[in-house]
Amino acid sequence: MAKTLNHPTSGLHVAIIMDGSGRWATAHRLPRTEGHRAGRAAVNRTVIAPVTQNIRTLTLFTFSTENWERPSTEVAELMRTFEEFFRVDCPALMAQGVRISAIGRRDRLPEILREAIESIEAASADQTGLHVRFAIDYSGRDAILAAASRFKESGPASSEEFARLLNSCEFACEPSPDVDLLIRTGGELRLSNCPLWEIAYAELYFTPCKWPDFGAAELDAALQDYYARERRFGRIPATVS
Ligand code: IPE
Ligand code: IPE
Ligand code: MG
Repeated sequence: MAKTLNHPTSGLHVAIIMDGSGRWATAHRLPRTEGHRAGRAAVNRTVIAPVTQNIRTLTLFTFSTENWERPSTEVAELMRTFEEFFRVDCPALMAQGVRISAIGRRDRLPEILREAIESIEAASADQTGLHVRFAIDYSGRDAILAAASRFKESGPASSEEFARLLNSCEFACEPSPDVDLLIRTGGELRLSNCPLWEIAYAELYFTPCKWPDFGAAELDAALQDYYARERRFGRIPATVS
């Protein structure tokens, strides 16, 4: 089947690099931790936004392996915010049909956070609505390396098999669909070690909107931009012979 103008009206995989919370706080003369609290509210708003009806999978880049290099007070506050989010906020999201899971390393997370993640993963496993994946202690390169290190000499049979391997390590409970649209908030024009294999053919959308200001309207704007694009996948436009 031709893949030109491949814009399904539903079933998209959208990934978001949620950046700009620290600068949002600074601009409001608040400590950075307040930016992360406001970012938690933006996650709640975004996940239940009506526009997510067209989205099957939403991957939220939440904490990178590099983020451990931040001051220990900020890291501790982030871990506390994540734990509260999974324990306090996620049941309400789940009640709306949302399935919640996490990708990334678990062994370095505080036990209380790990337990909160595992508890909501188990509780929401049968939900059939939007699947939200939180990438925590995640590195796109490490995910690829972990999968590659499992290869025998013969190597992988196909990229589908590689994708299965990629997700069979500690990184996910099931293979991730390819990302259709990657959004980065906060104005930086880089990828910062987000899920790299999955974004190989994603449409990229960068917005100066800082993450705590993000919500339904900004997600809708990104989706409208996405739908206006022609995804050619290396081919030529459908109208040209
Ligand atoms: C993203 O916002 C949150 C995390 C990386 C945990 P930042 O904290 O990076 O915010 P800025 O980029 O400093 O504004
Ligand atoms: C990217 O934000 C990582 C996450 C949003 C989790 P960073 O603020 O950590 O990335 P850099 O430092 O701008 O590359
Ligand atoms: Mg940042």
